[in-house]
Amino acid sequence: MKDEIIKLLKIEGQLSSETIDEIKQIDIHDFSNLVQEIGKRETDYIKASEISENMNTKYVGKELFVFKEVSSTNTVARFLSMHDVPDGSVVISEKQTAARGRSGKAWESPLGGVWLSIVLNPHVDYSKLPLITLATGVAVAKTLEKIGVENPEIKWPNDIMINGKKVCGILTEAITKLNTIENVIIGVGIDANLDIEEFPEELKAGTTTLEKELGRKGSENLLIKMFLEEFEEVSELFDNEGFEEILKEWRKRSYSIGKIVEVREPFNKTYDAYVLGISREGALVVEKIDGTLEKVISGECIIKN
Ligand code: BTN
Repeated sequence: MKDEIIKLLKIEGQLSSETIDEIKQIDIHDFSNLVQEIGKRETDYIKASEISENMNTKYVGKELFVFKEVSSTNTVARFLSMHDVPDGSVVISEKQTAARGRSGKAWESPLGGVWLSIVLNPHVDYSKLPLITLATGVAVAKTLEKIGVENPEIKWPNDIMINGKKVCGILTEAITKLNTIENVIIGVGIDANLDIEEFPEELKAGTTTLEKELGRKGSENLLIKMFLEEFEEVSELFDNEGFEEILKEWRKRSYSIGKIVEVREPFNKTYDAYVLGISREGALVVEKIDGTLEKVISGECIIKN
């Protein structure tokens, strides 16, 4: 974490290379104010003032920290969450140099996408983490519907798909104390104004962008604002134990239910199964070839039909 924060300060021209070694001796916590101050400056593409204008939220996005380039907004958000930034603070970056996807994969984050992380202090039991992730997927899908995407779907647990191709990924990372989630960092990456031809070859077939699907570029700032509004709405359902409502909204948009999948659970347990639905805890419920039912809590599900 220290190296990544130092890298951020270096990009922002805050540090000369001679001072790096000296700085490595300093307590990492002393950088917090500097990082927050940098995040308050205007950047060329992401404008905090545009995002905040008439934004209808009570706490989500009231503090926005915007950067030109960071390694990962999740890393910066995690760092800031350790320094008492308010609940609902959001870290946004124009680009990321080492963004993280699920299952240890890298995440492409060039200029033109929406790369952000929300800091929440939900103080709920750790077992509720999958529901936070599902709720975020619902918020993204609802936002895309509002900007004119027809039928965005959610592939378990949280890939947002348009016409069978992925347009958004979500990475949720929790900081827990005993069994309670102290802080959760919800990282959202939306392939917005991006040219699919510039993606690495191996990603082209399975990925799409909003620009491609809508046939036009849209405002990243407006998209962020609309998403944060939707996010607050679903997170309130969450606070009020409205899990059923979240699951209902998720099921309505499910890409996975009714499909045959290859389940790849951690530690290499791999099998084919038919997706029956989603449980109250946010697990995928599948029927294996031998007729037994299984709840998949984490891992990958590769669609086979
Ligand atoms: C996935 O693999 O589908 C999850 C991708 C999550 C990417 C986002 S972009 C903003 C945030 N910062 C990161 O490093 N990752 C998440």
